[in-house]
Amino acid sequence: MNKITIAIDGFSSTGKSTIAKLLAKSLNYIYVDTGAMYRAVTYFALENNFISDKFFNEEELIARLGDIRITFKFNEILGFAEVYLNGKNIEGDIRTLKVSKFVSPVATLSEVRRKLVEQQQLMGKDKGVVMDGRDIGTVVFPDAELKIFMTASAETRAKRRYKELLERGHNLSYEDVLENVTTRDHIDSTREDSPLVKAEDAIAIDNSNLTISEQLDRLIGLANKII
Ligand code: C5P
Repeated sequence: MNKITIAIDGFSSTGKSTIAKLLAKSLNYIYVDTGAMYRAVTYFALENNFISDKFFNEEELIARLGDIRITFKFNEILGFAEVYLNGKNIEGDIRTLKVSKFVSPVATLSEVRRKLVEQQQLMGKDKGVVMDGRDIGTVVFPDAELKIFMTASAETRAKRRYKELLERGHNLSYEDVLENVTTRDHIDSTREDSPLVKAEDAIAIDNSNLTISEQLDRLIGLANKII
């Protein structure tokens, strides 16, 4: 069967990764969560005190990029690949509001983007991949056979993320989550290098009122037309 590249881009908390994981599973494709890679770099920056509420030592982070090794390892129990930083599983550490707060400034740095995009292109070079992020259809795989651009209202997205964080035991307010989602969207859409935009040939899907299985059926249908 013809293997293709599927790019799923969109705003924060549109449920891209949930649907991308399920789509990859049903097609027997590899799933790559590129947001986890930007979060891993941010986690490294926080651990090394390169970034805080008061400062961002961009030069130090850029100088240390060579010390960052990001890998993914499939977890049979969870059914998806977890992210590792220099051999340490950081899957649980990168989904906090703290990392979410600093990830978009880190992702504006061209040096960071170059390093991660190169690795993403290598991971997807043999096709048979579902990759989700912000610049997959525009920069990482501009020739992807299927490009999806996910949208949903900011409130819908913040509610979903809030519920998810509460379920994981985080103690925070809905307002904090909404603020984080809208701030990240703004930084991601207005940055100079690889801003979040819909690729011209991407299919836009507003999933505010769609169930996960409705979204999955739609995507499988689109993929099957090409495969
Ligand atoms: O997808 P997720 O919300 O985990 O992504 C976290 C952040 O990483 C985004 O808000 C964005 O700043 C950055 N990102 C990016 N390009 C990607 C994926 C994520 O700039 N391809």
